[in-house]
Amino acid sequence: RRRIGVLTSGGDCAGLNAVLRAVVQRAVEGYGWHVVGIHKGTAGLLSRPVEAETLDLSRFQGELLRRAGTILGTTNKGNPFNFPLPDGRRLDRSEEIVEGFRELEIEGLIGIGGDGSLAILSRLCEKADLPLIGIPKTIDNDVAGTEVAIGYATAVGVATDALDHLQPTAASHDRIMVLEVMGRDAGHIALAAGIAGGADIILVPEIPYSLDNLKRKIDELRRRDRNFALVVVAEAVRTEEGEAVTASPGAAKARYGGIGHYIGQKLAEATGAEVRVTVLGHVQRGGTPVPRDRLMASIFGVHAVDLLAAGKRDRMVAWSGRTVTDLALVDVVDQPHRVDPQGALVHAARGLGICLGDR
Ligand code: F6P
Repeated sequence: RRRIGVLTSGGDCAGLNAVLRAVVQRAVEGYGWHVVGIHKGTAGLLSRPVEAETLDLSRFQGELLRRAGTILGTTNKGNPFNFPLPDGRRLDRSEEIVEGFRELEIEGLIGIGGDGSLAILSRLCEKADLPLIGIPKTIDNDVAGTEVAIGYATAVGVATDALDHLQPTAASHDRIMVLEVMGRDAGHIALAAGIAGGADIILVPEIPYSLDNLKRKIDELRRRDRNFALVVVAEAVRTEEGEAVTASPGAAKARYGGIGHYIGQKLAEATGAEVRVTVLGHVQRGGTPVPRDRLMASIFGVHAVDLLAAGKRDRMVAWSGRTVTDLALVDVVDQPHRVDPQGALVHAARGLGICLGDR
């Protein structure tokens, strides 16, 4: 019986259990394989014995399709090639991972991860001469080569819901409500949720802004008797002077407590409005997976197993042009996909009169 491994790596998101379900269903039922679920991403492969469990169909009879998180556990710390030790030194532990793969006696690996995790897994599997198929997942939607990464649709849904919940207070109290969302270095969540949730201002790291332009937008709203505003800020947006606030802790973070608070404070000073700031944080990762994430998880899981069955290696499954496809991992990792300032979403936002800060 052929044995394959599967692991989830990087930050959790909604839809990971749905991917695992699809992988197990296809591999066990479709091909008669044995599936080993590796615990805590690459961390499970560093333990001795390796932390892993057999995944069979009985595990997936219940509610897992609907549940966020990952039953395997995951980690976004501890690159095995540059592993941090308690005393601050770094160690290459990649050989231990290769031994871990051998201990499990697997002939192929399905790795569910974001850009960074897939890059590391690709190097590890190359070292172990183990066929790898990657499945893109990240709420940030910054994986190149695919229009869809698992978890993004749910995160956008949660952020849109938050705007739906903030709008009544904004309108009732004549306030400016600022919502800071995640996205790492990209502004995809902010842009999509901002459009879907009727924001007046959306700030993303890919488009430079000036505080004067934000004030002008608020003034314009007021001239139309609109005394409230919804503002969405992506976490990687910087201060007007270009100082990183949320992404890398530093002086500015200490002063403002995050970019949402910085923008909130500046808007209050410039407009005299009452401003409240909400930092959405990890609730964007744990929402019940929306149908689109479950659907893509199912499609990607089945396709990944089919690729291993066809003898493919070092590929990432992708959604492109209305169908599932796959690309060489080397062509997609280490080139994060960012918001295109000339793209359709930005064009739509401008067409809706949303201020993106640059004019
Ligand atoms: O990559 C997913 C993500 O949620 C980012 O949007 C965010 O910047 C980061 O992970 C948060 O990481 P942690 O869970 O380690 O705080």
